[in-house]
Amino acid sequence: MIEIENLNVWFGEGPDRVDAVKNVSISVGEGESFGLVGESGSGKSTILRAAMGLAPTWSGRISIGGIDARSGDRRQFLKTVQMVFQDPYASLHPRYVIGEAIAEPMRINKIPDSEARTDRLLEAIGLTPAHRFRYPHELSGGQRQRVAVARALSLDPKVLLLDEPTSALDVSIQAEILNLLNRLKKELGLTFMIVSHDLAVVSYMCERLAVMAHGEIVEVMDRETLRSGEAKEQYTRDLIAASV
Ligand SMILES: Nc1ncnc2c1ncn2[C@@H]1O[C@H](COP(=O)(O)OP(=O)(O)OP(=O)(O)O)[C@@H](O)[C@H]1O
Ligand SMILES: [Mg+2]
Repeated sequence: MIEIENLNVWFGEGPDRVDAVKNVSISVGEGESFGLVGESGSGKSTILRAAMGLAPTWSGRISIGGIDARSGDRRQFLKTVQMVFQDPYASLHPRYVIGEAIAEPMRINKIPDSEARTDRLLEAIGLTPAHRFRYPHELSGGQRQRVAVARALSLDPKVLLLDEPTSALDVSIQAEILNLLNRLKKELGLTFMIVSHDLAVVSYMCERLAVMAHGEIVEVMDRETLRSGEAKEQYTRDLIAASV
C-alpha cells in the first residue's frame, strides 16, 4: 500500500543544503501499521511529508495505493493518502466550526451529500451532530484531535500518515485516541504510518517500525523485537534503554 524506494529529500542548495532523508526504502502492506522512531531532526516528519507528495525536492520513488507520486493521477493520489498532525489546534482553522472543518475537503472535491457524511464521521469519532456548530476552542484537546481524524477521513483515504498524533494530549486521553484510530483502521481497512517518539505508542500500534538517525534508517524491526529489547544495532538498544 505504501512503497518508498531510495527516497532522498533535501532542503536548500549548495553549502546550505540539508540532506534530511537519505536513501530510505520502506514497504508497508495493506492494513499494516508501520512506525517511525528516532531522535529529533532525524527526518521522520520529512518522510511523511514526502509520502504526501509535499517535499519540495526529492528523488527516488513513492507510490501509495499503486499510484505513483510523480507520474500518477494527482487528484486520486491526494484522496488516497491523508495526514494527521501532532497539534490539532494548529491544523484546525479557528474560525471554522467543526462541521465546516470536516466538510471542507469534500466540498473542494465536489463530493455529494457532504452534510450527511459529516454527521456520520462525527458519529464515527464519538461526537454528535450538535458538535457541527462548535468552534475548535470549544472542544477539549482530545475532541479536537478526533475532529482532525474525521477531517482526514472525509475523502475516504486508504492511508493515514500520523505525525505524533497523541503527544500534544494528556496521558489520560492518549489511549482513547489510539483506540479510536485502531477501531477506525479495522472498520475502514486503513493502512497507517505513525511517527512517535514514544516507543510504548509504537509498540502498541505498530507491527513493524524503522529506527531513524541523521536521515537514514538504522534498523527495521518487528514489534516483538522492540518489546524484547534485543535489537540488532547498538543505537537501537540505547534508544530502547533510554525510553524505559
Ligand atoms: N522546510 C525545511 N527547510 C529546511 N530544513 C528543514 C525543513 N524541514 C525540515 N528540515 C530539516 O530536515 C531535518 C529533518 O527534519 P524533520 O522535521 O523531518 O525531523 P523529525 O525527525 O520529524 O524531528 P522531530 O522529532 O523533532 O519532529 C532537520 O535537520 C530539519 O532541520
Ligand atoms: Mg517531526
